[in-house]
Amino acid sequence: MAFFTKKREPVVMQLDPVRPVIILNFKTYKESSGANAVRLARIAERVQQKTRVNIIITPQAIDIREVAAAVKIPVYSQHVDAKPVGKSTGQIIAENLADNNVHGSLLNHSERRILLKDIKDAVLKLKEIGMQSIVCAKDDREAAGIAKMQPVKPDFIAVEPPELIGGEVSVSTAKPQIIPKAVKACNGVPTLIGAGIKENNDLKIVLQHGARGVILSSHFVLSKDPEKWLLDLVQGI
Ligand code: G3P
Repeated sequence: MAFFTKKREPVVMQLDPVRPVIILNFKTYKESSGANAVRLARIAERVQQKTRVNIIITPQAIDIREVAAAVKIPVYSQHVDAKPVGKSTGQIIAENLADNNVHGSLLNHSERRILLKDIKDAVLKLKEIGMQSIVCAKDDREAAGIAKMQPVKPDFIAVEPPELIGGEVSVSTAKPQIIPKAVKACNGVPTLIGAGIKENNDLKIVLQHGARGVILSSHFVLSKDPEKWLLDLVQGI
C-alpha cells in the first residue's frame, strides 16, 4: 500500500560528519540481486556497526523495498525520475521511494546517464521530499557544471572515470591526479571518487586528497568474502 497522501517526515538520515562515506552500489549483479541483496545489505550494516564508518547501499529498484525493510543503514536508489505520482508509467518515483524508507538516490551514473535538466529536476524534487542526492560525473569538468547547479545543489558529487569502472586497476592507482581536481571542481560539494576501488590504500589516497569518500561496486559484490573485504577496506580509517 502506498502512502502518497500521508504527511511525510523528512527521510534524510544523518551521516557522521567526520567519518568517511562509502557508497556500495549493488548494480545488477546476480550476486547482489534478490536474496543476495538482503545478504549484502546485512553485511554492510554489520560492518557499519563495527566500524562506525558511513555506509550507504544502493540496491536495484526491484529489491529496494525488501532491503530497506531489512536494515537500518541508509538505502539509496540507483536512479530516480523527476516525474509525478500517478501518470508516470515505468518511472521510479521519489515519493514512492520515500514511503519505502529509502533515503536518497544516485543520479546520472555512467551506466544510467541523464540530461542536466533532468538531474536538476530530480535533485530539487529529492530535496523537497527530504531525501538526499548523489550526482555522478565522468570528470572534473562535468563535476564543475553540476556543482554550479541552481536552485539546489546535490548532497554529493561522485566522480568516476568511466574507463576504470569495473576494472582491476583503481582510480587511486591509475589516475590519482584526478582526485584533487575533482575536489576543486566540486567547489565545496562533498566529493566521492570511484572506479576500481579495491583495497584500503585506494580509500586512503582518496581521503588524503580531500574527498569525502568512495563509491564502489564490483570488488565488494563479487568478493568471496564481502564482509572481510569491507572490513579490510575501512581498517584504520
Ligand atoms: O558506482 C560505482 C562504480 O561505477 C564503480 O564500480 O565496480 O569499479 O567499483 P567498480
